[in-house]
Amino acid sequence: MSAARGRMAGDDLRFMKMALRLARRGLGYTEPNPMVGAVVARDGRVLAAGFHARFGAAHAETMALERLAAPGATLYLTLEPCSHFGKTPPCADLIIRKKVRRVVMAMLDPNPLVNGAGLARLRAAGIQAEVGLCGAEAGRLNRHYLTFMRTGRPWVTLHAGVSLDGKMTDREGRSRWVTPSELRRCSHSLRGEFSAVMAGSGTVLADDPLLTLREPGWEGKTLLRVVLDAGAALPRERRVFRARERFPLVVFSGLAAAGNGRKGERHVFVPADGEGLNLDAVLKALAGMGIASLLVEGGGRLIDSFLRRGLWDEAVFFYSGRIVGGRDAVQPFASGTCLDAAPELAGRHWTPLAGGAILRGYRCSPG
Ligand SMILES: NC(=O)c1ccc[n+]([C@@H]2O[C@H](COP(=O)([O-])OP(=O)(O)OC[C@H]3O[C@@H](n4cnc5c(N)ncnc54)[C@H](OP(=O)(O)O)[C@@H]3O)[C@@H](O)[C@H]2O)c1
Repeated sequence: MSAARGRMAGDDLRFMKMALRLARRGLGYTEPNPMVGAVVARDGRVLAAGFHARFGAAHAETMALERLAAPGATLYLTLEPCSHFGKTPPCADLIIRKKVRRVVMAMLDPNPLVNGAGLARLRAAGIQAEVGLCGAEAGRLNRHYLTFMRTGRPWVTLHAGVSLDGKMTDREGRSRWVTPSELRRCSHSLRGEFSAVMAGSGTVLADDPLLTLREPGWEGKTLLRVVLDAGAALPRERRVFRARERFPLVVFSGLAAAGNGRKGERHVFVPADGEGLNLDAVLKALAGMGIASLLVEGGGRLIDSFLRRGLWDEAVFFYSGRIVGGRDAVQPFASGTCLDAAPELAGRHWTPLAGGAILRGYRCSPG
């Protein structure tokens, strides 16, 4: 490779990494849109940059190119530009209008409205367009969006605070507090990364959680709270039913309880199966509401159902340093499986904290 080509490849990597870092700044705020970062560079220097900050806001390409004359520049994008009219006009057209010479993108956009059409539009206009630089990293970053687009259901993350021996409660069913406060703060903050958080009726009865987002760093962030209550029988005095504009609530119940809907409450009725409410139907309904990611906060029965049905993508377990024991203590996978079928987390990441640890890993490696 010539020195000039080597320098160009180095610049490409450097600017794409910069675009990925920018894209990440939209974490938690862009869904059901993807996180996207854009960097415009010429002769090894950055001219402008942008990212998609929140759903409904300007696209990364617009933010970077809007006030710029870019003839001869290279645009680095973490995702293919859109080619259709949505909330904003097609970004591919803006790129063409700005006379960008070359576009380097990390990956194609699987949205059926785009899916290669943005790339084709650029090439048809004579722009040199390449795809694939840091593609795996971009895929991991937008794993919620990609799953939502490809499968039609939200990305599902299972969450549990557990003792060292894997118990979510003590033998009396008390979960306050299995994990120390520092771990709990991290676990609450995790909600910010998602569009919705879910709990089963058992948890609402036992813990009376608010399921809101109160940790710093997530100001203005909305979160849909989801409760599964097959019989529509939960007492309305529970704290989760308190109206909160930033944290709307949707309750799922069985078709048999369809007459029990309450005025002013978002209540969705779905079929039931042997385990409770049919989770495929619940996830499909959530996707229809534009929910691209879901954090399942338990309790044990609910997490067990998701695991058994294979309807999950990621697990985040907060381990305390205590051994609690107890045959009757709630645990995340009570029905269990045999070793041959036991899921093994891919891409595991351990973070030691407060005498315990946070384990984060995937059902299959995303990206
Ligand atoms: N350590 C932790 O991280 C943590 C987190 C949460 C909870 N907890 C603890 O876990 C305990 C609650 O767990 P749990 O297992 O008793 O209850 P749960 O999993 O919170 O809720 C289970 C209930 O949800 C409803 N449900 C509807 N559809 C379902 C489906 N497809 N699969 C499973 N459940 C479905 C059913 O009740 P209906 O038929 O009435 O709808 C079911 O009994 C509490 O003691 C709580 O303190 C611990």
